[in-house]
Amino acid sequence: MFDHRDTLEDLNSHLPLKDKIISAHQVIKQNYDSIARIAVTLYDPQTHVLKTYVDSSGEDKPLQNYQASLDKAHSLKAILKKGRPRVVNNMVTFEKGEQEHTKRIGRQGYAASYTMPMFHRGEFFGFLFFNSYETDVFTEKVLKELDVFGHLISLMIINELSTVKVMDAALKTTRKITHLRDPETGSHLDRMSRYSRLIAQSLVGKYQLNDEYIEYVFMFSPLHDIGKIAIPDSILLKPGPLDDTERNIMNTHARKGREMIDDIVTNFNLDGIPHLDILRNIAEYHHEALNGSGYPAGKSKSEIPLEARIVAVADVFDALTSRRPYKEAWSNDEAFDLLKQLAGEKLDVDCVHALIDNRSDIEQIQQQFKEDIYG
Ligand code: C2E
Ligand code: SIN
Ligand code: SIN
Ligand code: FE
Ligand code: FE
Repeated sequence: MFDHRDTLEDLNSHLPLKDKIISAHQVIKQNYDSIARIAVTLYDPQTHVLKTYVDSSGEDKPLQNYQASLDKAHSLKAILKKGRPRVVNNMVTFEKGEQEHTKRIGRQGYAASYTMPMFHRGEFFGFLFFNSYETDVFTEKVLKELDVFGHLISLMIINELSTVKVMDAALKTTRKITHLRDPETGSHLDRMSRYSRLIAQSLVGKYQLNDEYIEYVFMFSPLHDIGKIAIPDSILLKPGPLDDTERNIMNTHARKGREMIDDIVTNFNLDGIPHLDILRNIAEYHHEALNGSGYPAGKSKSEIPLEARIVAVADVFDALTSRRPYKEAWSNDEAFDLLKQLAGEKLDVDCVHALIDNRSDIEQIQQQFKEDIYG
């Protein structure tokens, strides 16, 4: 008998996907030191867009928060057409590249790459990239080993994405079963999740946010008001202002939302889901204010989790510019004016600026996700 330490034991633990991939990368490096980068991009079949997702390139960050249309990425499209991975063993191809992402990969000094398309139940869902600073590293022998790691990584991604889908389905079902309506329509959620993503993207430099974080803020922000299903119609749909008693009941939606999420996580056994705290914080703290006057906890400034500060701005802006049972829709200018007043006092200054400084993006989102008849 002898003791063997499982070289991939990190994969047993509750780590974020990025850490697991970094860990797998370390193991690969023990044998093949020149493999300097593993990167994953995910494909959205609705928009044909490829987005960077996780990247284990350490100090080198050639591509962060990057998106490109698959239709324009000719070399990647060719991989899909053939249905087979691509091996590039010298950098000539990268130098000739016209696409911004190819140029950046070239500039970083990568000399060789191995690109695997990833499939789930026959459907293409993204690419996995291995990059090296040396030429001619991807020999048959190396590729045989990398293929095993590639499929392992691909399964880890599928696993992570399906847990998120189960979570999403559980939350949607919960909403339907309670049979209570929500005056916040689908288009409100479409817009505010995109405002949230826009804000998160503009904070990348300041807070060193990664793609995964931004994606989760985007995915979870539509659930911010899930606690409103516990609020009676007489209050939620009241056409006029709320009195103090009604207001107090209304304000319980933040804590209720957090409790519901905790219940769902327990009942559906979703404990392992990564970044669940982002969801909890969004539901519980999206009405906190910088000066401590918000609810439910009266947290101030940096005590308020970043994701809650982001969603607060996206939510208030969309609430202002939408019609509600209790108010008419405001113009963008009117809403911007109020946001500016609230910035620093109640709302995060950088988050407010992220919206105000990106007016054309906002108008595009409003154009794409117009109000339906329910306002
Ligand atoms: P909501 O309609 O999604 O509004 C979200 C947040 O946007 C509000 O959080 C508030 O910060 C901001 N907001 C929306 N409309 C206005 C406005 O006309 N003026 C200003 N200054 N801010 C606005 P808040 O106040 O914590 O409210 C949370 C939720 O309570 C609202 O979500 C809505 O469902 C309900 N609510 C708030 N005020 C009233 C009201 O007068 N009547 C009724 N029926 N419901 C209300
Ligand atoms: C990447 O490595 O992230 C994309 C570059 C390529 O087209 O191979
Ligand atoms: C907030 O929702 O966090 C503060 C904005 C407000 O109270 O109007
Ligand atoms: Fe709310
Ligand atoms: Fe809302």
